[in-house]
Amino acid sequence: MLVTFEGGEGCGKSTQIKLFEKYLKDRGENYLLSREPGGTPLCEKIRALLLEGKDEMCAKTEFLLFSSARAEHMEKVVLPNLKKGKIVVLDRFYHSSFAYQGYAGGQNLADLKAITDYATGKCRPDLVFLLDISYEDGFARKAKDENLKNLDRIESKGKEYHAKVREGYLALAKKEKERFVVIDATLPAEEISKIIINEFEKKRGG
Ligand code: TYD
Repeated sequence: MLVTFEGGEGCGKSTQIKLFEKYLKDRGENYLLSREPGGTPLCEKIRALLLEGKDEMCAKTEFLLFSSARAEHMEKVVLPNLKKGKIVVLDRFYHSSFAYQGYAGGQNLADLKAITDYATGKCRPDLVFLLDISYEDGFARKAKDENLKNLDRIESKGKEYHAKVREGYLALAKKEKERFVVIDATLPAEEISKIIINEFEKKRGG
């Protein structure tokens, strides 16, 4: 079973992933947690290029780098572990590319989908938890935890871009109702965690 977490900046994804991981661990589940871009030494290098790099990068290059990290991660980490029957939990997957590079970055969605299918072998998540938050609330939350002067390349793209990321995610959730669970990320963390666990159990049982 493949479970992914998605959302805009400051949505509280890391907190929720930690709580979900604790739930899986406490139940003795056979799971693997990984993140995109990342999860292997090579993918972490691609991540550094994408996030820490100061070089100008055209939109196609950005998407193709995310996709190359994704292809590598799928083949080396995600697919082998799914085959072993593990619950694979991902901090971001291709819906991030659709929302960020597609809806916000203006890249053609049909092109992104074709390349994504190639990179993933058409593997789709069974369940996507979308932690929905506005640009204002997300960045206000981020400002509490860290210095906003140290934003990475994607975080620095500005208000208009991040507002479109949110709209993009909501549009994707509408189109793929069978896998998306949209959660108001301003709810208390414990409440969100209960919703996540409840939806996970429903999906698993059904
Ligand atoms: P990360 O530090 O993991 O951010 P967060 O804590 O918000 O998940 O950095 C990942 C960044 O990369 C984040 O800004 C979203 C962006 N991203 C894309 O733009 N496209 C993608 O396909 C992926 C996987 C991430």
